[in-house]
Amino acid sequence: MRILAIETSCDETALAVVEADGDLKNPHFSVVVNQVASQIKLHAKFGGVVPSLAKREHLKNLPILFNKIFKSKKNKIDIKSIDLVAVTVGPGLEPALWTGIIFAKEIHKKYFNQSIPLIGTSHLEGHLFSFLLSQPKKINKIFPAIGLIVSGGHTNLILLESLKKYKKLGETKDDAIGESFDKVARLLNLPYPGGPELEKLALKGNPRAINFPSPMIGQKNYNFSYSGLKTSVLYYLKKLGSSANDFSLTKNQKQILKNIESQGNLKADIAASFQYAALNVIANKSVKAIKEFKAKSIMIGGGVSANQALRKAIQEKIIKEKASAELIVPQFSYCLDNGAMIAVAGYISYLKKKNYPLEAQGIMDIS
Ligand code: KG4
Ligand code: ZN
Repeated sequence: MRILAIETSCDETALAVVEADGDLKNPHFSVVVNQVASQIKLHAKFGGVVPSLAKREHLKNLPILFNKIFKSKKNKIDIKSIDLVAVTVGPGLEPALWTGIIFAKEIHKKYFNQSIPLIGTSHLEGHLFSFLLSQPKKINKIFPAIGLIVSGGHTNLILLESLKKYKKLGETKDDAIGESFDKVARLLNLPYPGGPELEKLALKGNPRAINFPSPMIGQKNYNFSYSGLKTSVLYYLKKLGSSANDFSLTKNQKQILKNIESQGNLKADIAASFQYAALNVIANKSVKAIKEFKAKSIMIGGGVSANQALRKAIQEKIIKEKASAELIVPQFSYCLDNGAMIAVAGYISYLKKKNYPLEAQGIMDIS
């Protein structure tokens, strides 16, 4: 079947058309078109996503992307060839989510007279199942599996017995990992969004230069915490001579940076040491879960899954612990928010006959 998927949960307006077939034991996906309109430049000025601006941009971009896909000579996709519409209903920014939901309802009515299914879809399931867009091998060979969602809003560890049956093992108790990358990047005066910039800077630094804590690493659970680590970086910067006392970094920003930039490679060392501490706990707990549940694979998804150091940390830990699980990663363009992953999650929900209400849900768990 051919799926039109719509994603507007945060700062990317994304539409995709994906061909999906097979059952839950062996689904298959092929992306026909995957369009993303990023709002990064707009929000960069504010150092983070501004919900009202995100909503305005989604409203502007949704018809533009729709016309590009269905009305341009280049793509020539017939809207009537669509068999199912999937739209993200949460979690995310509610004003942003509503724009996608309302747009999906309008299309559903205008072009299909509501005669095909319209499926409310989870953004988290999109990230979790995004690996299926570059399906590695027969799906029955990868379960039981550990799923790791690492994004700007979430840090979840999941145990999957199949595509049908899974449960959350743990999650962050405060900040998400991507959020902590973004906040530390701000402290270091890196452009928004900070995650990829911090990763780039970290390549030039020594990850063992500063001993930042890997929070909850010693605890026998699968939960995470990132707000303490972020505070450790702030205190470290304060010790260097700044009187900064919050994360807004306004008055003292210049002072902090003058101090660290005058000390050779210190800025890169801070980035590398923070990244090491942040990823170390993820790699440890992921591999602990692989061993406890005898998982055959670990699949990662969400913006931070694009981070090469994360992939390397998990891979090295698997080898060190002789865990023998395969690390399955989505293609780069499917790590960040996109419509194709919503088509995948929508198809899986359709097969499972699971449908979320067509209402924005800012907070929504993996279930
Ligand atoms: O999945 P995503 O696009 O949106 C959410 O669902 O949140 O993830 C965005 C997050 C941001 O915090 C961004 O800084 C982070 O993913 N991110 C990275 C990298 N690329 C994106 N963090 C670390 N390293 C990266 N290479
Ligand atoms: Zn996301």
